[in-house]
Amino acid sequence: MFARRVLAFVAVATVLLASGTMVAHADHAPSPTSVVSWREHDRQRAGTVWTDLVTVTPALGRTAELQELVDGRWVTRSTLTVDDGYSAPLGVRLTHHWTARPVTWWRLHLPATATAAEATTAVKRVEAYWEPGDDPASPQVLVNKERPLEPLDWAPRDLVRPDVATLGRHDLLRPVAAEALERLDAAAHAATGERLVLVSGFRPHEYQDALHARYVRGHGRAEADTFSARAGHSEHQTGLAADVTREGVPFTDFGTTSLGRWVADHAWEHGFVVRYPEGAEALTGYRAEPWHLRFVGEDLAAYLHHGGISTLEEAFGTGPAPTYPPAER
Ligand code: DAL
Ligand code: ZN
Repeated sequence: MFARRVLAFVAVATVLLASGTMVAHADHAPSPTSVVSWREHDRQRAGTVWTDLVTVTPALGRTAELQELVDGRWVTRSTLTVDDGYSAPLGVRLTHHWTARPVTWWRLHLPATATAAEATTAVKRVEAYWEPGDDPASPQVLVNKERPLEPLDWAPRDLVRPDVATLGRHDLLRPVAAEALERLDAAAHAATGERLVLVSGFRPHEYQDALHARYVRGHGRAEADTFSARAGHSEHQTGLAADVTREGVPFTDFGTTSLGRWVADHAWEHGFVVRYPEGAEALTGYRAEPWHLRFVGEDLAAYLHHGGISTLEEAFGTGPAPTYPPAER
């Protein structure tokens, strides 16, 4: 995973030459100092590769290090050797780490050399903004009372049965979610000795419709809407949501078990969020559901974790979704 995330390298050396002339380095003696500075860049959203421009006035043959601040230490993510003695804005691509936190700090660092060049550093604060997905197939799709699936009866075509214990007949998930659940189950087993049971994964539109109607008959519509999504508004219809529990425990009690607490703390490490946390009903529209895990991908799950953000509505900045729009009430 680490290797996949670390982009090999950063410089696009041919872009936007300031002077229009390139001078072969062999013709130049090393300059005494080198300068690096970041150019201002529009806010960049996550989910796309980001290329920022940096101006480098290098000393010959010196190596610039692109570093990220991690736990108070600068960690080199990639290096750039500049072997032409010209000043040019270079396209610098950050590694993917920046999308996993709301704010990261980066610097381009030219260490001092024996030829008297001083160390030069340019620091940049980078903010990441995630956009809610509209595509029901995207792990970043935002589904809530205000954002139905489009079309309402959308169903994935690539469902698989994860290799975990299951209960009931709704035991399919999208492959990315299935693989992540297998990893979460293995990690839970290694840490606690207990295994997860998948209670409910993908649910088709018709089934969600029937399920919600049953709850409405039993509880009335207003109460049913606090714990059951209407068809076309359920994450279960994406194949990215999994209700889980521990064997022998009703899923509604899962949150009180030690396994449930372990999952609450560690689900993010495998790309899941506990989608309906305690105390967030005004944001999500639903009572707490410690058993309902939603796969969003490792970077976005880490972004919520590191940022202390508890709901997707807050992470995406879409505002709360406590009720259905007036036309649907
Ligand atoms: N229980 C969740 C909200 C659903 O029905 O999708
Ligand atoms: Zn659920």
